[in-house]
Amino acid sequence: MNVTVVGAGYVGLVTAACLAELGQRVVCVDHDQARVVLLQAGGVPIYEPGLDELVQRNQQAGRLRFTTSMALGVEHAEVLFIAVGTPPQEDGSADLQHVLAVARQVGRLLTHDLVVVNKSTVPVGTGEAVQRVIDEALRVRGCQGLACAVVSNPEFLKEGAAIEDFMRPDRIVIGVPPGPAGARARECLSQLYAPFNRHHERTVWMDVPSAELTKYAANAMLATRISFMNEMALLADRVGADIDAVRRGIGADQRIGHSFLYAGTGYGGSCFPKDTRALMHTAAAHGSPMRVVSAVEAVNRMQKRHLVGMVTQLMGEDLSGRRLAVWGLSFKPNTNDMREAPSRVVIQALLARGATVLAHDPVAGSEARRVLTEDMAAQPGLLQRLHLEESPEAVLLDADALLVLTEWKCFHSPDFARLRDLMREPLILDGRNLYDPALLQALGIAYLGIGRRNALGVARLALTAPMQAAAKALRAA
Ligand SMILES: NC(=O)c1ccc[n+]([C@@H]2O[C@H](COP(=O)([O-])OP(=O)(O)OC[C@H]3O[C@@H](n4cnc5c(N)ncnc54)[C@H](O)[C@@H]3O)[C@@H](O)[C@H]2O)c1
Repeated sequence: MNVTVVGAGYVGLVTAACLAELGQRVVCVDHDQARVVLLQAGGVPIYEPGLDELVQRNQQAGRLRFTTSMALGVEHAEVLFIAVGTPPQEDGSADLQHVLAVARQVGRLLTHDLVVVNKSTVPVGTGEAVQRVIDEALRVRGCQGLACAVVSNPEFLKEGAAIEDFMRPDRIVIGVPPGPAGARARECLSQLYAPFNRHHERTVWMDVPSAELTKYAANAMLATRISFMNEMALLADRVGADIDAVRRGIGADQRIGHSFLYAGTGYGGSCFPKDTRALMHTAAAHGSPMRVVSAVEAVNRMQKRHLVGMVTQLMGEDLSGRRLAVWGLSFKPNTNDMREAPSRVVIQALLARGATVLAHDPVAGSEARRVLTEDMAAQPGLLQRLHLEESPEAVLLDADALLVLTEWKCFHSPDFARLRDLMREPLILDGRNLYDPALLQALGIAYLGIGRRNALGVARLALTAPMQAAAKALRAA
């Protein structure tokens, strides 16, 4: 089948490469010329495990082409995916300008029947709006006889595991419009997605508004689990419980399951923050406010500052002269995506209090430098105290504390003895609960996790004693 994917970002590029891998003839269009030039030369603009091999292999096999030309993309397509960004606007609503721009171009250029598949995350009603824009452009050109159905097929891939998620989806949600055009679109997509349904039917067919809402509901549910556990972790600290034990205890209940129950430094990324806000905006516009989702969002905003609160409880509000080490900058492992990453909030807050921050991420260093420079454009002085280092050890030298912000595999089992020797004060603030508190205590390393019983005790100590005494007391406890 001839497939066009518009948008060569995380979703578009993965969709294009995976469909090409399954044998489709794919043209991927992006209006960012530099991105297309890089892709044409065999480069991949994002870090996603396995994606570069997949792109290169299918390009070499002639099944995958990159272009900036929508004319070429539309001419080529039997099915055209829209996978462009829908970033948040000031008021939280999704910015649909890119989606609607693609719709206008399709309407202006189309000369044959087409199925348009919207993969971007869009509020309910967007499928209809895209259909209207295309129909209107066709009408203006006197081409209203062409059949062009707009289908909703939200994407559920996770960055860092995007290829696996695309190739082995839990489910494929497809919303089709009513009538004969919808029926033809359903037939076409059944054929395109047949390889995924060989063992059992994974496609969940529905109407377009339900498919659009399903994507928001899924992300809001996952964000809810995270904020729920983060709030539970705060309580665990106060009552002397270990949130990790609680997590295992509740996750074993099949009605609950183990996924997305990890307390941490709050969720980030390109999806949960913007999609929860967009959902709240849609809900408010329809007079049906989402109280749960709004609490989830508020908890997350606070959680991103939780580690900063721990640092200031231990060291005081003025962090001048403190050297703080950070492991992990991307919003989660296996990606260089820094969108809404908790590290941005934490690092800026530490710098603003006078600390020197030494940070390492195995992949996201240069992207982090770009976004942090943007974040602190109004306070360039702060950046002078931020040092992005190439190795995890380099940041530890003479550090007063290590903050773990992203659970990259390479941070899971460090050489703790070496870490202890390098640091001025062996203290780990583990924002991802990676380490065993008892093991670290035995090694003489002070340790605070999220909701791991000891936070309050240390905070109390820190209020009455200087930092070194607090850390010593914790180690001896
Ligand atoms: N990133 C994820 O993990 C993820 C997962 C599921 C769904 N989504 C949704 O998928 C959509 C895309 O997300 P993403 O992370 O891939 O975005 P992205 O920002 O990584 O990529 C979007 C791409 O679209 C291109 N583009 C924008 N307007 C264009 C136009 N008119 N013509 C051609 N190209 C255009 C941009 O240049 C960019 O390369 C969003 O709605 C997002 O919410 C993202």
